[in-house]
Amino acid sequence: MRILALLDGTLVDPDAPLLRSHDLGVQRGDGIFETILAVDGHPRELEAHLDRLERSARLMELTLPERAKWQHAVRTVLAEWPWGSEREAAIKLVCTRGLDGGDGTPTAFVSGQSLSEELMRKRARGISVVTLERGIDPGMMERAPWLLLSAKTLSYAVNMAALREAERRGADEVVFTASDESLLEGPTSNVVLAEDGRLATPPPSSGILRGTTQGALFRAAEEAGWRTAVEPIARERLWRADGVWLASSIRKITQVHTIDGTPVATDSGLHERICKLYESRY
Ligand SMILES: Cc1ncc(COP(=O)(O)O)c(C=O)c1O
Repeated sequence: MRILALLDGTLVDPDAPLLRSHDLGVQRGDGIFETILAVDGHPRELEAHLDRLERSARLMELTLPERAKWQHAVRTVLAEWPWGSEREAAIKLVCTRGLDGGDGTPTAFVSGQSLSEELMRKRARGISVVTLERGIDPGMMERAPWLLLSAKTLSYAVNMAALREAERRGADEVVFTASDESLLEGPTSNVVLAEDGRLATPPPSSGILRGTTQGALFRAAEEAGWRTAVEPIARERLWRADGVWLASSIRKITQVHTIDGTPVATDSGLHERICKLYESRY
């Protein structure tokens, strides 16, 4: 299933051509995006995603259509989605710098699409992960803002290449590490550890995205009396933790059972509690 809306709220045929060949999003990956999970007609963390879209635009010095237009286009897609037959949808917001040589008008659209069977299987069964170097050190985000380390840009070719490397190594997913071997994030997710009743995740200042899913989980956990920490995490802690998860809007909180070929702790009771905490937000 696929639904497509422009920012004036018009629905267009998702199978008809939309972009021009000289759109800078196509030619250079020069643009930004967000992917939002909607369940039973309700988008999750919509405002947090819009905040991050605006933050990415600021970092990229990109003209972004106003927030009300995004909200309207999202509502248009949600209104068209067949909730009776598909309870979840991935809502994607895309904005590029527009045409090469154009007047600076951004290209923007919102789409809704089905979640893949494979994603559902991974949510249910858990995943294996490999750690891969990302080639950045923890101070790089501040030192080199032009690398856009904390923006959600359309330039995901490296992230996708890392996933292919994981597949070559027989794993499902990746956790990137910094040059000091501290943990960063997955190519499309944040990493969360549970250690003695405390949840931990690496800090955005290490050059990673501030995850809306991780944020929602941590807020729910804090309200339920858990301790949480956003702090540098050494790679070895993965194997000492009580549990490891990858968190992102579409995958939700997916449990990791193996890292670099070695099993990590998986406690189904703990996994259930973590998932319930996250779901309690909605
Ligand atoms: C690089 C990266 N890190 C983290 C995340 C998780 O963010 P969220 O929970 O807001 O989906 C994503 C989402 O796709 C991502 O692409």
